[in-house]
Amino acid sequence: MIFAANFKMHHTRAGTAEYLKELDTLLAQAEFPFKTLVFPPATALQPSTDWITVGAQNAYPAEQGAYTGEIGLSQLEEFGIDTILIGHSERRNILGESQEFLAEKFAFYQERGFQIVYCVGEPLEVRQQGDEAVAEHLWEQFVGIDLDYERLIVAYEPVWAIGTGRAAKVEEIASTHAELRRRIARPILYGGSVKPTNIREIAAIADVDGVLVGSASLEVRSFFAMMEAVAPPQV
Ligand code: 13P
Repeated sequence: MIFAANFKMHHTRAGTAEYLKELDTLLAQAEFPFKTLVFPPATALQPSTDWITVGAQNAYPAEQGAYTGEIGLSQLEEFGIDTILIGHSERRNILGESQEFLAEKFAFYQERGFQIVYCVGEPLEVRQQGDEAVAEHLWEQFVGIDLDYERLIVAYEPVWAIGTGRAAKVEEIASTHAELRRRIARPILYGGSVKPTNIREIAAIADVDGVLVGSASLEVRSFFAMMEAVAPPQV
């Protein structure tokens, strides 16, 4: 099981450092059989810890260059970062990243051997049209993406479930992950209002290999509580 925390535009550099230190200590004691990823804002990037892989929420597909406001490969390499989130709906919809650009970004970081958490998800009006429309929408978001890349992790995040407190229903997650599983052999995460109170039912769904958590990951205790909730009992 993979637990990934997307801080979005939350936490400072100091706050992130404190968070990672506290979480790392808890994870060292717990020895959970989970993979833990944390995506802080760009200003708060730091090397991964013993128990936590630190990844970038975004980077430009270039080593360096005249791309005002962006960071690229050389800025990530300074911290030994080799994990990146690509295709989040907030970047697609708010920052206007096109499928073509995402595919370019993906290819660039794939070429450099990065672990890539690639996000897809449908808006509410597509979900309301049913499973077939959802499937069609999601597969369009994979155009130009190498589904066989060995360091690929897919995250299914329905846009209408992000930050709304209303996660997708178990049946919706199950049917969508089953659809994605037809062509994706790599881990598939669910994201969208995952929290301590629904983590158990979500983690139990077939083909859910982990979760990508926003709001409920912002406090260490809340993120850790989700892991505790699904951890195998100590013997
Ligand atoms: P929330 O957990 O706040 O709904 O955010 C999900 C998300 O977008 C993670 O990438």
